[in-house]
Amino acid sequence: MTIRTVATTPFDDQKPGTSGLRKKVPHFQRENYAQNFIQSIFDAAGPGAGQSLVIGGDGRFFNAEVVRIAIRMAAAHGYGRLIVGQNGILSTPAASNLIRQRKASGGLILSASHNPGGPEGDFGIKYNVANGGPAPEGVTDAIYRRTREITEYRIAEEEAPDLSALGEHRLGDTVVEIVDPVADYAALMETLFDFDKIAAAIAGGLTLRFDAMHAVTGPYAREILERRLGAPEGTVLNGVPSEDFGGGHPDPNVVWAAPLVDLMMGPTAPDFGAASDGDGDRNMILGRGIVVTPSDSLAVLAANAHLAPGYRRGIAGIARSMPTSAAADRVAKARGLGIYETPTGWKFFGNLLDAGKVTICGEESAGTGSDHVREKDGLWAVLLWLNILAEKKQSVAEIVKSHWAEFGRNYYQRHDYEEVDAKAANGLMESLRDRLASMSGQRFGSLVVQEADDFSYRDPVDGSVSTGQGVRIVFSGGSRVVFRLSGTGTVGATLRVYLERFEPRPDLHDLPVEEALAELIETADSIGEIGKRTGRSGPDVRT
Ligand code: G6P
Ligand code: ZN
Repeated sequence: MTIRTVATTPFDDQKPGTSGLRKKVPHFQRENYAQNFIQSIFDAAGPGAGQSLVIGGDGRFFNAEVVRIAIRMAAAHGYGRLIVGQNGILSTPAASNLIRQRKASGGLILSASHNPGGPEGDFGIKYNVANGGPAPEGVTDAIYRRTREITEYRIAEEEAPDLSALGEHRLGDTVVEIVDPVADYAALMETLFDFDKIAAAIAGGLTLRFDAMHAVTGPYAREILERRLGAPEGTVLNGVPSEDFGGGHPDPNVVWAAPLVDLMMGPTAPDFGAASDGDGDRNMILGRGIVVTPSDSLAVLAANAHLAPGYRRGIAGIARSMPTSAAADRVAKARGLGIYETPTGWKFFGNLLDAGKVTICGEESAGTGSDHVREKDGLWAVLLWLNILAEKKQSVAEIVKSHWAEFGRNYYQRHDYEEVDAKAANGLMESLRDRLASMSGQRFGSLVVQEADDFSYRDPVDGSVSTGQGVRIVFSGGSRVVFRLSGTGTVGATLRVYLERFEPRPDLHDLPVEEALAELIETADSIGEIGKRTGRSGPDVRT
């Protein structure tokens, strides 16, 4: 193998965000742009000699090209073995599983998650470490430092093997193993869930639809739901992945998965509906006539996980990101389990999972998962729900309502203001931070501020501290507003406002969410000066 050393100069915008480096495709296509970032990852990750690396992505436009570049650069870096999804495809949870099962030193996951794809869409590269999870901040900081000083990258002259050819190939001394992207993942799911019981429920009349949104979960869902669990063909909607996700926005929420939501609210709704995102780590859960919020889903899954074989012995604890509602906290409290509140970003769960402090984690941003991998996992959530439905023989709505009756309901909504002028958004956050100290005791209508802070987190395992993770304003009675700027956008700033109100009384559990939160929504606008500072009269998206 001949290694070519290519001279390059640093780009000043390669700081990894919440979930790796994300840019528009044309930006990523600039000469040496992807190469610089991959070389910086390898430099930060250490010598590749004797190590294995997993490579794959969500199949979006530019995926296969970068997979081939990454293979050639990894061979030049001396990796012993590359485990690559066929045609460059691996869902994020499947990649996490492969890293763990094959004891790889890490993995390159090519994805911009739920962001649109295609030649003008988004692209992303993320590095995961040996536990299968996203690189912690110490590693992403080291990667960023390398991107600022890089002068050359190394790449094999030879072409990468045909990505469609399963089996072992060679590039110099490096073995390039092309694997079926679905097989190991599906086998893992069979160890966690009672496939026979779910299959029997489906054979007995439980109906479902899963919307793969033209993204990576299509082949996974068809194999698992239709082939292994016997759901009829057509259960998986939009199951053929395409490079631009059929021109859509592969984000499983009420806005972007509206056709599924309409189906579930209509007269021909099946019993269960679900969707996943571009790279397969997010999920949306619906029942006939009901959308389950991710925060409620986390709480229901945590409360009922013991019904699935993989969690029969109970769970160690629960973790949720700070903006996620406290519904899971109520389950933890009632069951005597540990509960952890982390900053936004799945990577913060890694240490807690590794240390065995928690088994189930979740985020309001449509992510739920467990210690089976170190990423959130869309199909895992779907299968756990199906396992619970098969055991309880109740509808989704019945399960959620009886959960609220037992634990109380945390009314919850997130308001997003997208593509806001970055200066205005930063000004809004700064102004809130400036006023934090004087906020306590202030009255807004019937709401009195009990405490207000800028969330910071000290990791209980490694002691690392993350500051500036979002402004929390808690009112007496437990209602809460959180202001945060998104860490995943690619244009301007996205302001997220998270609204939550706890209601213990079952006779008040059926209010329309916006009615239940009306006073809080008004208060958020006045405290945050949202209209005034952003010029917006309302959010672009309510989820
Ligand atoms: C990605 C991460 C999640 C995180 C989400 C937040 O999906 O994988 O762990 O919750 O981004 O995104 P935001 O845009 O709110 O920073
Ligand atoms: Zn995703």
